[in-house]
Amino acid sequence: MAAQISTGASELRDITKMERIGAHSHIRGLGLDDRLEPRANSQGMVGQAKARKAAGMILKMVQEGRIAGRAMLFAGPPSTGKTAIALGMAQTLGPDVPFTMIAASEVFSLSMSKTEALTQALRRSIGVRIKEESEIIEGEVVEMQIDRSLTGATKTGKLTIKTTDMETVYDLGTKMIDALSKEKVTAGDVIAIDKTSGKVSKLGRSFARSRDYDAMGADTRFVQCPEGEVQKRKEVVHTVSLHEIDVINSRTQGFLALFAGDTGEIKPELRDQINTKVAEWREEGKAEIIPGVLFIDEVHMLDIECFSFLNRALENEFSPLVIMASNRGMARIRGTKFRSPHGLPVDLLDRVLIVSTHPYSPDEIQEIIKIRCEEEDVTLADSALTVLTSMAAQTTLRYALNLISCGQIIARKRRAERVEVEDLRRAYTYFMDEKRSVQWLKEQQGSLVFEEIGSDAATKDAMDLS
Ligand SMILES: Nc1ncnc2c1ncn2[C@@H]1O[C@H](COP(=O)(O)OP(=O)(O)OP(=O)(O)O)[C@@H](O)[C@H]1O
Ligand SMILES: [Mg+2]
Repeated sequence: MAAQISTGASELRDITKMERIGAHSHIRGLGLDDRLEPRANSQGMVGQAKARKAAGMILKMVQEGRIAGRAMLFAGPPSTGKTAIALGMAQTLGPDVPFTMIAASEVFSLSMSKTEALTQALRRSIGVRIKEESEIIEGEVVEMQIDRSLTGATKTGKLTIKTTDMETVYDLGTKMIDALSKEKVTAGDVIAIDKTSGKVSKLGRSFARSRDYDAMGADTRFVQCPEGEVQKRKEVVHTVSLHEIDVINSRTQGFLALFAGDTGEIKPELRDQINTKVAEWREEGKAEIIPGVLFIDEVHMLDIECFSFLNRALENEFSPLVIMASNRGMARIRGTKFRSPHGLPVDLLDRVLIVSTHPYSPDEIQEIIKIRCEEEDVTLADSALTVLTSMAAQTTLRYALNLISCGQIIARKRRAERVEVEDLRRAYTYFMDEKRSVQWLKEQQGSLVFEEIGSDAATKDAMDLS
């Protein structure tokens, strides 16, 4: 089986990943200049200069492919931009370098063991850039003739394709005919057919035919009829992750599991075979390893077993850069009764570069609010902006950001386009922030279910032990 490790490249080429971020959709990068100095307000990023610069430096090392098996920890209070900076890094990396983001609690799923979930996440973050020679047919369609059998079940046909130098006739089978009709290929189109995967792509219409029709969509692209041979060899380069190779080659699941996301556990022997094969490809110059980034958000939610597994995994030959974020101070390490900084064991902390994030100044908060308003298409009155900024200082940045869209709905109800102070005030009375919620609970004097009156410490301990 080892001999037939497939990369599934031809099938994978068409998968585009969709990203939905929401709270961080205004972040378009780290906002650094060429010398990695953070700009005050750029690419949706404001302030937090040191952490952004540190992130930029690490990124540079990743891009140069020099870093593997390193780890980095963003530590700081809630809503100081840890997740935002990590997403900014992802955007800067470019499409070819894998970036995987998981929340630590995802590891505790029922369908697979913790270490398997972590292994999958780690392998998702390692790219393999594979060079493949593929044979393509490229030319202008002269004629396409399709014969259907009486029942219509089978189709056969002939396709005549030319370049400026030659003309060739190909026999078509049912699959190829379907692929051509899906692309709506007609005579006069310039097309390319990948011979291994059978994928048809339309490159445009031939200039020679530009006068044949008067009515043509504005988006019709005219191209020259290609020169030379109809069949050409082309070198194509594509990047897949180690995890994708694992899944495609796991016999029980196969390629379709990638779409379902339901990959189950993958046998260690298979992984070993794939590692050997990839190393072989690398030696032959057929493949290149691209260590990417694995971001583990809320990392304090991992337990001691996961941490020791990570310690070991970081020393592996195929290891990505692991970035973690935690908002805990001295906290109990999950699964033990010991306390440790950020809820991480000291031996792991010893291996990581720690970057701290700090609360924002009122000016920075104001800038972030402005950016969010633009992103959510909300107009704030100047006075409302000042009020919202001071609200953020008294409550949290997140709470204030949440009020933007609430304020807009209230403003719209009175048929106004601009959000005024009054709208924010009303939103403030509808939705409580954390401090007011605690106050409210105190006022209820234990009328809620399962409340332990006056024993804050007891509750804390109960939580820590879980
Ligand atoms: N420097 C920044 N520039 C622009 N927007 C920011 C910045 N920092 C944070 N934000 C925005 O503020 C909100 C809160 O930040 P974020 O979620 O990154 O905090 P966090 O540090 O991950 O907090 P937690 O510890 O609670 O997870 C997000 O909507 C984020 O996009
Ligand atoms: Mg976060």
